Amino acid sequence: MSLIPIPAELLRSHNFIAGQWLGAASGARFGVNDPATGECITYVPDSCAKEARAAVDAAHAAFAGWRKVPAKERSQIIKRWNDLVLARQAELGALILLEQGKPQAEGRGEVAYAASYIEWFAQQATRINGEVIPAPQPGRQMLALREPVGVVAAITPWNFPGAMIARKIAPALAAGCTAVCKPAEDTPLTSLALVALAHEAGVPAGVLNIVTASRQNTPEVVDAWLDDARVRKITFTGSTPVGKHLARRSADTLKKLSLELGGNAPFIVFEDADLDAAVDGLMVAKFRNGGQTCVCPNRVFVHAQVHDAFADKLATRVRALKVGPASNPASTIGPMINARAIEKIERHVADAVLHGATVLVGGRRLASLGPNYFAPTVLLGARAAMECTREETFGPVVPITRFTSEAEVIAAANDTPFGLAAYFYSQDVRRIWRLAHALECGIVGINEGALAAEAAPFGGVKESGYGREGSIHGLDDYLHTKYVCQGQLD
Ligand code: SIN
Repeated sequence: MSLIPIPAELLRSHNFIAGQWLGAASGARFGVNDPATGECITYVPDSCAKEARAAVDAAHAAFAGWRKVPAKERSQIIKRWNDLVLARQAELGALILLEQGKPQAEGRGEVAYAASYIEWFAQQATRINGEVIPAPQPGRQMLALREPVGVVAAITPWNFPGAMIARKIAPALAAGCTAVCKPAEDTPLTSLALVALAHEAGVPAGVLNIVTASRQNTPEVVDAWLDDARVRKITFTGSTPVGKHLARRSADTLKKLSLELGGNAPFIVFEDADLDAAVDGLMVAKFRNGGQTCVCPNRVFVHAQVHDAFADKLATRVRALKVGPASNPASTIGPMINARAIEKIERHVADAVLHGATVLVGGRRLASLGPNYFAPTVLLGARAAMECTREETFGPVVPITRFTSEAEVIAAANDTPFGLAAYFYSQDVRRIWRLAHALECGIVGINEGALAAEAAPFGGVKESGYGREGSIHGLDDYLHTKYVCQGQLD
């Protein structure tokens, strides 16, 4: 049940291809469920390769025109999109709560977060400058032009159904690219609404296309794009195994790739840290979206001297979290996205306990609330061999490990194939810069738990992927550089 009625123009249940709302040719549809109750909200097309190719046909045909639209005009259209998104913040926020389940303030916050990327890239559209290169030979004019890569395929995750499509599509449009999108099967509705608003803002038919598909049909849709040489770039947020598949399968057509993949973020509390600030930072970083965020701390290392004091303070705060549906304004932790998510969390906690961890807070499902709720959990005595420290739990679980030396904790923090975010709390300026350099990751939070911002580059190293989103670097990924040399000028 939605908090406020979602008007028909925002509750879309068709693909959008070449400026038209269409079903799948087969007529197949799949249900989108409310994770709080498991009830079906609506049905959307279960697309296959035919719809995927039709979307590329439209984006390919529109590219020649869109790239020529003057940058200022592209910027104005994208800015109008931002204004419409902000004007519909309440309804879009309600849609996010309905299909994704995050608490009310976070749902509204995600709409503002999505809009911040749209506005940023609207501004950047007018600043895609090339270079005039001082020629090493006489009689030559040498230039480097910045050009759009072409058709972009965006594959977005369920944990931020509004912000992730905004952060991928706004720079694509700003650069002069056209796009095809496939939102996660759990949360396609916010993306469809954002595409409807982009169209209303004046994005021409064919420039932005979206197709929905069930978990079963998703590989067919995505493989159609991977195999299509007209698709020049893939941008994906999701798991590392899927990211590797995209990289392998797109090799034949050598597409540009931006892969924002899994993380396993360390959160380190040194003996000289401000413990209250560290607890605040961990609460923000860990429990945002119920722990279903790729930059959520997944391993918490606390120096032995402050371990017990930190654990006590943290336990008090975690016990005060209010688990419940988004329909209750007091809820601070919503349901997990689906049964698979809950099963993984349960498995990680059971494995930790089996291998010697103790449960300080939580540690169990909250079945009386609904099918997908898990109690915010703090585990003590976590070790490197446990599943919850080897892979992302993607849920409200904090495994704490005690450490005694800086060298030991740097080695432990880097002992993972992943490298997205890392956090640490310390007041020692020399240590701060040693750590900032030593941590193997794309994003570092120093005495800060909330890191993402539209003006900052977001992305990882190692098996957390490559490419950046947000900031000027997030625009580069949609452009290539063309060298132009004119001779005979003397
Ligand atoms: C993500 O979890 O993929 C994105 C998180 C963020 O934007 O902070």
